Amino acid sequence: MKAKIAVLPGDGIGPEVITQALKVMDAVADRFGHVFTYCFGDVGGIAIDKTGDPFPKETLDTCINSDAILFGAIGDPKYDNDPKAKVRPEQGLLGMRKALGLFCNIRPVTIFPKLKHLSPIKESYLDGVDMVIYRELIGGIYFGDKGRTKDRREAWDTEYYRVEEIERIAHLAYQQALKRRKKVTLVDKANVLESSRLWRETIQELAKEYPDVTTDYMFVDNAAMQIIVYPSQFDVVLTSNMFGDIISDESSVLAGSLGLLPSASIGEKTSVFEPIHGSYPQAKEKDIANPIATVLSAAMLLDHLNLTEESAVVKKAVSRLLESGLGTPDLKGSSEITCSKAGDFLEALVLDDSLKIDKNKYVSGTSTII
Ligand code: IPM
Ligand code: MN
Repeated sequence: MKAKIAVLPGDGIGPEVITQALKVMDAVADRFGHVFTYCFGDVGGIAIDKTGDPFPKETLDTCINSDAILFGAIGDPKYDNDPKAKVRPEQGLLGMRKALGLFCNIRPVTIFPKLKHLSPIKESYLDGVDMVIYRELIGGIYFGDKGRTKDRREAWDTEYYRVEEIERIAHLAYQQALKRRKKVTLVDKANVLESSRLWRETIQELAKEYPDVTTDYMFVDNAAMQIIVYPSQFDVVLTSNMFGDIISDESSVLAGSLGLLPSASIGEKTSVFEPIHGSYPQAKEKDIANPIATVLSAAMLLDHLNLTEESAVVKKAVSRLLESGLGTPDLKGSSEITCSKAGDFLEALVLDDSLKIDKNKYVSGTSTII
């Protein structure tokens, strides 16, 4: 197939992890005879530096004219330390989500058996963990009415949802559940919030269309605890923008490293694929960042383009690399490799199913027995 992919490396470690993901995408193109054309665009701090705008019109056009978007990370400490800064890199991210209508953010949490020791959670609690969070992304308190009084001593943000906004993400969550363990958990605060009661009512009605799926309802405070003490009970978790933001960071702890977790943000017209980690400025250009979250985001992108086998090959390559015992420094206990070396290995593993990686010799041909 031919696909046009917008590539937005962004700030910090964004460009280096994106470089590795593109090595993997090129290997997929080679092996399966596809043609991927990349159109690069600026977003975040780098876009502010160049144009004054964290999400310039030119980048929006590049995104709109593509089949999918691969995104690195945004954020730069020079803006964090200036509370009066008028423009911030994060506005680029929120602006992009809104402009592209990315209403459904999908964050899968999977545990790699070899890396269970990285999680601060007891290893026995991690057995059977395989959950995916469906977070509403362009509504709720992030985008509701907000403001300050004239004297600036009072401020408000509004949690606001319409039935249609709840339904469109819920359908995607239930369709996903049908392909998995057939369970949806709605996380809300319906004992207190009217907007949460709207979520509950809407889901109770919509769930009738999916008789094969079990629906569970859980208050967010309880969910925050259950994710730690009994994480394997979750299959598809459906929730609002703010609650999803919080519980997805919490859930990432189960996997042991933020550097492992990918995400997809689905819109009506186009979709964005990005690692869940941020720009990690301390690691910028040191070649120590973990590219796996971005490579797995590229796998989600391939899946989205209906390249199911290609996506599976990339995920398999990641598992094979991790099982070899090699990993970037965040994967403590692994024999250390750099970000670019991890990209090289993943590229080689995608190209050759029979390749074996020996952590003592790094990479060997098929004749080597590990
Ligand atoms: C995320 C991030 C963003 C969010 C920030 C950077 C605006 O935390 O993608 O989860 O809150 O949505
Ligand atoms: Mn977040």
